[in-house]
Amino acid sequence: MTKAPQSEAYEQRTNWPPYTYRDYPDIKPETYKAFMEFLETENTTGRLMELQPWISVCDSRCAFCYFPTTASSKVQLGDYLELLKKELEMYAKTKYVQTSVFDEIVLGGGTPSVLSAEQMIDLIDFCKERFTTSKEYFIKVTGSSKTLALNKIDKLAAYGVYQMDMGAQTFDDKLRKMLCLPDSAADVEKAIRHARNLDLCVCVDLMYNLPGQTMESWINTLKKTIELDVEVDAYSLHVDPGTPLETMIKRGISPPQGDAEYEKEMYLAAYKMLTEAGYKAVGHDRYSRVEWHMRENCLNGWPWGGILTTGAGCFMGYMQRFSYSNLEDVNDYMSTVKAGKLPIHRLSESTDEDMMSREMSRLYLRLPVSKQEFMEKFGKLPEDVFPQQLKNLKEKGLIEIDDKEVRITKQGEVWKGNIAWEFAQKPASN
Ligand SMILES: C[S@@+](CC[C@H](N)C(=O)[O-])C[C@H]1O[C@@H](n2cnc3c(N)ncnc32)[C@H](O)[C@@H]1O
Ligand code: SF4
Repeated sequence: MTKAPQSEAYEQRTNWPPYTYRDYPDIKPETYKAFMEFLETENTTGRLMELQPWISVCDSRCAFCYFPTTASSKVQLGDYLELLKKELEMYAKTKYVQTSVFDEIVLGGGTPSVLSAEQMIDLIDFCKERFTTSKEYFIKVTGSSKTLALNKIDKLAAYGVYQMDMGAQTFDDKLRKMLCLPDSAADVEKAIRHARNLDLCVCVDLMYNLPGQTMESWINTLKKTIELDVEVDAYSLHVDPGTPLETMIKRGISPPQGDAEYEKEMYLAAYKMLTEAGYKAVGHDRYSRVEWHMRENCLNGWPWGGILTTGAGCFMGYMQRFSYSNLEDVNDYMSTVKAGKLPIHRLSESTDEDMMSREMSRLYLRLPVSKQEFMEKFGKLPEDVFPQQLKNLKEKGLIEIDDKEVRITKQGEVWKGNIAWEFAQKPASN
């Protein structure tokens, strides 16, 4: 593959954006108090929110996974579900949540599919009863084909679930084995076809730059995905410290990942194949062929309406200035909820500067930053706050600026993670 000119922009692509739970401080009493006070205010944003209870439990551990999950053999699922409902109830009683409207109920994790269909439906029923949903809300369930028996899919479809999110990762059986994925590519395909035949929308997670993954293998996985007519989240593998995969690479049991250039080529190959097949790249890593999906909360960037997430280890909680993640250890989580406290582990309250930087991170989600909105919120224009960053990025051809907005260019999309970090707050020096 010939070298694209944009390969000069940065040495390597940054796929992890700023402002994730990894950067939040541990919870402090004063921030917890401020959050509780905030929850007693009215939600006047007029924006729809997402409700995201997590079942942070998996039957087996995939070698690469950084999600804080617990083995199903170590969790009493019935007890966990009771306490998950208790946590949901604690939020449901607050003024902020009572004045909020939700347009998505998403069972995440983890793998909610470790539950029986009846348990999943009972949890969704509980959410529908306790929270206000919009007229056209929809329900999504995350599942892995390793725990998603076909009759569970039947029951979920009959109940009215709209979308199944499935971690397919790769359709290459050799790689699946190496990643400790217990089911075969044929099993994943079977579950997807079954769901599609029931008219369910399916969104698969795929990963690229896996150790030993050839370009041919990646292209075959993409071809299969297009053939199955599903939406895609395509993630570049990040070898996280402490994962079995890291150990395997260190010990030479697994080959290392491809280098930065190879990773970028894989991204570009996916972009080309999927856009040529009629997909549009939206949000951080999504490719969608369904127009109205592009209005979905999580694809619409700061300042979206917010995500109320619950459950052990959940880390995408966000309401206005507050972002939070929960306690990861299931036992700590359960005992904290039992004691009547929100089981928050990390909680961050954004300053005005953070909010301005976060507004710029709309570029990471391929969304424009409106100058008028920026001015209305902060009394300044983006170029008043970030003159140097904008100048540099414009000179590199990664963004365009006109009277109305700042937007990312096609070249810029390749480097959107790096761009977001340009606007991120540097830690204050003491
Ligand atoms: C919580 S999982 C949801 C899917 C579900 N648990 C399953 O495996 O079917 C979210 C997705 O994050 C992605 N992921 C996990 N660890 C990753 C890593 N180290 N680097 C990149 N993506 C990762 C995988 O694609 C995974 O499917
Ligand atoms: S990728 Fe999904 S199934 Fe695998 S360990 Fe992570 S959360 Fe569990």
